[in-house]
Amino acid sequence: MVAASPGTATALPSPRGPVSGALITALRRAPGTVGPALSPPVEDADPWGEDAQLALYLAYELHYRGLPGVDDAWEWDPRLLSLRARLESAFLAALRDAVGDPGAVDQALADVLHPGPDSPRGPSALLADEPDLGRFREYAVHRSVFQLKEADPQALLIPRLTGRAKAAVVTVEFDEFGAGRAERVHAALFADLMRGLGLDDAYNAYLDRVPAPMLAVVNLMSLFGWHRRLRGMAAGHFAALETASPPGAARLADTLERLGVDDPACTLFFTEHVEADAVHEQLMRREVLGGLLAEEPDLADDVAFGIRAATLVEDGFAEHLGDAWGSGRSSLRGGSVL
Ligand SMILES: [Fe+2]
Ligand SMILES: [Fe+2]
Repeated sequence: MVAASPGTATALPSPRGPVSGALITALRRAPGTVGPALSPPVEDADPWGEDAQLALYLAYELHYRGLPGVDDAWEWDPRLLSLRARLESAFLAALRDAVGDPGAVDQALADVLHPGPDSPRGPSALLADEPDLGRFREYAVHRSVFQLKEADPQALLIPRLTGRAKAAVVTVEFDEFGAGRAERVHAALFADLMRGLGLDDAYNAYLDRVPAPMLAVVNLMSLFGWHRRLRGMAAGHFAALETASPPGAARLADTLERLGVDDPACTLFFTEHVEADAVHEQLMRREVLGGLLAEEPDLADDVAFGIRAATLVEDGFAEHLGDAWGSGRSSLRGGSVL
């Protein structure tokens, strides 16, 4: 048995279908000892569905903190990489289909701040409409699959950039990683928030509970991050993230206060993002996108696509929350965490 990394989940999640099932079964064995069992019917799986999204999430996780009980050598196993490539190409095709023509970069960014009338109400708006501590805790559980590794996927952009774009991404990432102070690392601030809400802050502790719409949010940034050829998409996605963040963070900080949660250890994650991301947005827009497109103007379509795709998966997550909460159900797999 391989020991889990410190502070991480202690068990693999349950399978959600034949693809994630084959992958999880294989991961329990030594790399190199699995044959055709790692060729599950990816083409039959819905790329947005629970089975494909969980399998993709697990495949990427081998590159981040690893998986409990899983041999680290799986990370570069050719069979696993081949399965991941099939999952990625189905996901990217589904994204292209859903986004359509991404249009111009400026318009895509403007639409992040001013979504159209058909866009679903975002999570921060849903929580502000009807403050409820149970739902807020559910929201934190969903987000934990990204926020406890914030902003690792975005760090993958650094070696792929040069000049102004590289310098600015490093400046933003310096803040994301606490500007030299471990206790200010944004992932650590999110762990503080989780503990303050009475939740388990161990990395991937709630993976079993998090449904496909949120896994797609994380898988999108991993997909863009782990492929140099998708660097334009990764840059656009990061810009969208920083642009959308301040208004949402302000609403979430306010909602926590209305719920009577005024412990600064809980609210700091959000208040920090209101201030920091206002600066980050400008850096992303002027220096990262400006610098990248000055050097590689042919990437404009990819940048716009990255922005639109970021909004698309966030809208999918928002719709999932709205549907569940609107009909009085928990938005988590297996019911509420309360
Ligand atoms: Fe952050
Ligand atoms: Fe930021």
